[in-house]
Amino acid sequence: MNRHSFLKRSLLTAGGFTIGNALKGQAQAAPSSFSSTDKPLDALNIFELEQLAKERLPQMAYDYYRSGAWDETTLKANREAYEKYKIHYKVLVDVQNRDLSTTVFGHKVAFPILIAPTAFHKLAHPDGELATARAAVASNTLMSLSSLSTTLIEDVSVAANRNFWFQLYINKDRGFTRDLVGRATAAGAKALLVTVDTPLWGRRERDVRNGFHLPEGLSAINLIPSDKDGVKKGNSGAGLGQSFAWMLDATLQWKDLDWLASITNVPIVIKGVCRADDATKALSHGVKGVLVSNHGGRQMDSAPATIDVLAPIVDAVGDQLTVLMDGGIRRGTDAMKALAMGAKAVLVGRPVLWGLAAGGQPGVEKALALLRDELDLAMALSGCRTLKDLNRDLLR
Ligand SMILES: Cc1cc2nc3c(=O)[nH]c(=O)nc-3n(C[C@H](O)[C@H](O)[C@H](O)COP(=O)(O)O)c2cc1C
Repeated sequence: MNRHSFLKRSLLTAGGFTIGNALKGQAQAAPSSFSSTDKPLDALNIFELEQLAKERLPQMAYDYYRSGAWDETTLKANREAYEKYKIHYKVLVDVQNRDLSTTVFGHKVAFPILIAPTAFHKLAHPDGELATARAAVASNTLMSLSSLSTTLIEDVSVAANRNFWFQLYINKDRGFTRDLVGRATAAGAKALLVTVDTPLWGRRERDVRNGFHLPEGLSAINLIPSDKDGVKKGNSGAGLGQSFAWMLDATLQWKDLDWLASITNVPIVIKGVCRADDATKALSHGVKGVLVSNHGGRQMDSAPATIDVLAPIVDAVGDQLTVLMDGGIRRGTDAMKALAMGAKAVLVGRPVLWGLAAGGQPGVEKALALLRDELDLAMALSGCRTLKDLNRDLLR
């Protein structure tokens, strides 16, 4: 048995579950005996990190992380679209000293690649969101914490040195939403990413087929205090679409952002925009930023690739709002294209989960370092010293 099948075997037998159960679709948390000492960190790129993660994760967890909605055409498009844009690099520029740092909502980061909010980090590793937060701090970047975290906001805040963003689903129960916002901001959240592409959950058929559910002992822990049934509701085994339907609000409208802006001073970013006219509407609803995103292809299938809709949105609101982008970034060149198109920074979802599953905190640091170093090299090879040198002139 090679090292990885051994690890996978240990993982599948952890917590009393057998391999047979796992193959029948039982999800489970990664084992607490997990060791990151066997250097998954040899991965040369994000694709190799994903392969390591795949070997270590139960099928249900891997499928949950990797899947997209319906035919997964948007999931694929997010990746493939980058290839259409070629980088017309410049030569004979002194690029000896380079600086990738930038400032987002007043917070300086060493490079413009931030961590997108993703749910249930303890499915990947027992240290869960704490490992991710510590990796963000060690890497000098920022983590966005999902509402569907498996770790308390207050604990993540400590691990993140109080520098994190909080992702919010506005719940039907506005009192509950207000309390959650209050907790996140009291814990130091520096921005609220309000996800607006989820009036309902997209249908991810792999999760439905697997009967996706959280293993015993894991829950969307931040949602429990005002809803004591939170654990049970997250465990119906019917896939995320059914299990967490109760936490969305299909009636959500622009005016609800006005309400949100009235209860918090923290910058609000709307996450999940793909149209310039929607970005323009945001201007009159107390919003400070727009995250161009299609939820990593997990919501509306057949939605366009994010890189393809970024430029019109930057043109519409870029001088008034902070424009961010996520979706399919697996190489430094992908990030470079989005930055050249006008994004202030980009976010990555799955690469962080692959790093976390492959090696806990060092694995997440590895994922971030791979992307940072690739971006740095790509900039050097293109005659760019700082992010200001990245502009559309580089892309054709
Ligand atoms: C497993 C998984 C869970 C996610 N959970 C959330 C979430 O809780 N809230 C949210 O706004 N977006 C969520 N997203 C979307 C990410 O924030 C982000 O938009 C997407 O992952 C970016 O694409 P990428 O994975 O190709 O980098 C999730 C994505 C994945 C893959």
